Amino acid sequence: MRAGVNRRADPRPVRVLRKVEAGPVRARDPGCRAHVIWAGDDGGDGRGEAVTAGTARGGFRGWREAAEEALYGPDGFYRRPGGAGPAGHFRTSVHASPQFAGAVARLLCRVDEALGRPTALDFVDMAAGRGELVTGVLGALPADVADRVRPYAVELAGRPEGLDGRIEWRTAPPERVTGLLFANEWLDNVPVDVAEVDASGAARRVLVRADGTERLGEPLTGPEAAWLARWWPLPAEEGLRAEIGLPRDRAWAAAVGTLARGLAVAVDYAHTAGARPPFGTLTAFREGRETAPVPDGSRDLTAHVALDACAAAPALPGARLLTQRDALRTLGVTGGRPPLSLASTDPAGYVRALAAAGEAAELTAPGGLGDFGWLAQPVRTGDVLTG
Ligand SMILES: C[S@@+](CC[C@H](N)C(=O)[O-])C[C@H]1O[C@@H](n2cnc3c(N)ncnc32)[C@H](O)[C@@H]1O
Repeated sequence: MRAGVNRRADPRPVRVLRKVEAGPVRARDPGCRAHVIWAGDDGGDGRGEAVTAGTARGGFRGWREAAEEALYGPDGFYRRPGGAGPAGHFRTSVHASPQFAGAVARLLCRVDEALGRPTALDFVDMAAGRGELVTGVLGALPADVADRVRPYAVELAGRPEGLDGRIEWRTAPPERVTGLLFANEWLDNVPVDVAEVDASGAARRVLVRADGTERLGEPLTGPEAAWLARWWPLPAEEGLRAEIGLPRDRAWAAAVGTLARGLAVAVDYAHTAGARPPFGTLTAFREGRETAPVPDGSRDLTAHVALDACAAAPALPGARLLTQRDALRTLGVTGGRPPLSLASTDPAGYVRALAAAGEAAELTAPGGLGDFGWLAQPVRTGDVLTG
């Protein structure tokens, strides 16, 4: 069900969210939200009891800690032995078409040129799932580059059986990378805390129990409050929410820090300052359906990425944000239909070309994968993503 899959017959959703309308979260979408208990409901003073995240009073803790365990604990959604893996629950660009891996292979070739064709060229598939992207890239590289490439899959889940023996499977990226580090739909799965504005207008940490019940915890202070003020300021309107992207900024800066020379790319569903969703984007996916975000280990928990904040985190020159549509067009994925005349001269070729055009259209579609953000960070190289 991966490469070459018939997209019309593929029921797995792309993890991009519907547009959020204004209105209180709980009233707006009750079917897709966890039930919320306010402190007032359980005998508090109506403004919520101050509970420090991590103390887990009554099983309540911050979303970051809860999601960390639910996704990456020993029995977590992504690490559980024998789990279906990401492709069993939703589809990413990697699963949508082999053209995505082909484009990444072409990007790796551009990085290779920019680096002066080193004797060892690293390709790091960061958050590799089941290794689908690195496998596709290896298959798409010209022989002279494939011979020099050192492929790594960085993933918290175990190495899948039957993976190409050339691929080194690791839980952390290698150091001193010379080449390309590519992170497709990683940062949205880096757990974050959620802030919500209370009745007095203060932003407080949202606490959650394993059954998805929420309540408000302590007011946010320190680096988290500073992050919100800089990247996602919350007006003093009760019920507004934001995801605090600080752990993602740090994760991205650390990943970029593993490069000695080359390019790091993060691809994800994203938002930027001025267009943040008023109620946040925290949601879940399981077995091909979007579902309520409950940190019980049974589902993927995800939230859109403040990619502009990530871009600023490494404090390096040359960071660039572009849409997947523009990035893939630069890399030769255009989605143009084949000429009708081909249907009479080469009917089988025409059908193949039509299917390829359909896949390219999905990868670049407005309102879908095409709107994903690409964050490209060169490290001691030039811009290789310009057409
Ligand atoms: C949404 S899946 C994306 C898989 C693949 N990149 C793709 O596009 O199909 C996210 C993956 O990130 C992995 N992951 C999350 N945090 C990680 C980390 N710190 N190191 C390595 N893998 C991580 C998860 O285990 C999961 O397999």
